[in-house]
Amino acid sequence: MSNLIVTGGSRLSGIIEIPGAKNAVLPVLAATLLNNGTSILENCPELDDVLTMLEILTALGCRTKREGPRIEVDASNLTSSVIPEVLAKRMRSSIIILGAVLARCGEVLVSYPGGCEIGLRPIDMHLRALEQMGAEVDGLNHGMLKVTASKLHGCEILLDYPSVGATENIMLAATFAEGETIIRNAAKEPEIEDLQEFMKKLGVNVTGAGTGVIRIQGGKEIKAEPVHKIIPDRIVAGTYLAAAAATGGSLVVAGVEYDHIGSILYCLKRIGCTVKNYQGGVVTLEAPARLKPLDLLRTSPYPGFPTDMQPQIVSVLSRSAGTSVVVETVFENRFRYTEQLQKLGADISVQGRAAIIRGVEKLRGAEVEARDLRGGAALIIAGLAAEGETKISGVGYIDRGYERVEEVLSKVGAKIRRVE
Ligand code: UD1
Repeated sequence: MSNLIVTGGSRLSGIIEIPGAKNAVLPVLAATLLNNGTSILENCPELDDVLTMLEILTALGCRTKREGPRIEVDASNLTSSVIPEVLAKRMRSSIIILGAVLARCGEVLVSYPGGCEIGLRPIDMHLRALEQMGAEVDGLNHGMLKVTASKLHGCEILLDYPSVGATENIMLAATFAEGETIIRNAAKEPEIEDLQEFMKKLGVNVTGAGTGVIRIQGGKEIKAEPVHKIIPDRIVAGTYLAAAAATGGSLVVAGVEYDHIGSILYCLKRIGCTVKNYQGGVVTLEAPARLKPLDLLRTSPYPGFPTDMQPQIVSVLSRSAGTSVVVETVFENRFRYTEQLQKLGADISVQGRAAIIRGVEKLRGAEVEARDLRGGAALIIAGLAAEGETKISGVGYIDRGYERVEEVLSKVGAKIRRVE
């Protein structure tokens, strides 16, 4: 079990190169299952969730090879359609493999994903869509789920909510379905566009990603040799920029897509940071010593302010000069980390889906526990801005989304170390 020890008070300054996006590489890895050949992925982040996904692919019969940020998946010989329970439990987003395995094997057995710290995370929209396409869904005993389909057929699907995972699952399942599948009210996240790019390289006829309507023309077997570079992680970029803002620092992030982080930068500007965009994916941020509050910020699906940045921005606002209100509209239970921020002296009250943050002059170091990925990132940010030492446990959650976070932050002047 490791802990992070953060000594606050240092201004962040320097350059951080942003790695590939976790939420893009996971569905693209699932999509490699559609290929009766070898796919090569570049710019993959080195994260535990990526390793878990590779273990799942191996259990299904794929041959996988990883060399730093380059991953090779040969899915020409699938031998199983069972996602081992221990791997599915380790990573809730393993559910995005459902559509691809179903498309390729005609059946899939997976354990039902449980709730987590940020909400119930149901998969009703995923399952309803697959049923509409002709799949049979059986909830077996012991929390297992069996989905079978001798042949899927294309159809029109209207999502009640633009769910990222459901959109991805339907895109993958539709690949070998008979006829056209149309997804309406599809999620518009950049990760969906990246999945479409990869699917196009496989030869799939798919259009519309990035808009609310996606069309997939089902086809026959795929045998391709795609090479695909994963898009940069907009949440990792946003997190480090938020950390710089919280410390009154000046930071350069390189290798980003400006548009993908537009809503995050807009928000950082509103609280007093100066942000500049340069060609070649470089963004700079200069923060004043004390930030302004935000009268109202609501999370929403892309291109709105991402829920995955909500804890980090609340952490930044906890030391701003005034009162801010942040409303969480995507996940129902995403404020639990605020109890930990309060241990550092933050003045935050939560009323339903809104957090009211009264900015304090100083945070003080304390012992805190990360209980989910982005809540953990929020604790690091608060620790960097606090006086004295903060000890963060539950680091395993943080490692799921940030590669060697202490090394990255130390290089830009943070005092942070990992102790076993
Ligand atoms: C993805 C991201 C996650 C991000 C989230 C929202 C990955 C691996 N994870 O998660 O980091 O926080 O998008 O941007 O890409 N819902 C239902 N029924 C369903 C599916 C979803 O009610 O069948 C609800 C969820 O409980 C949640 C909302 O819809 O309240 C959005 O969830 P969704 O977009 O599906 O998130 P994920 O794909 O799980």
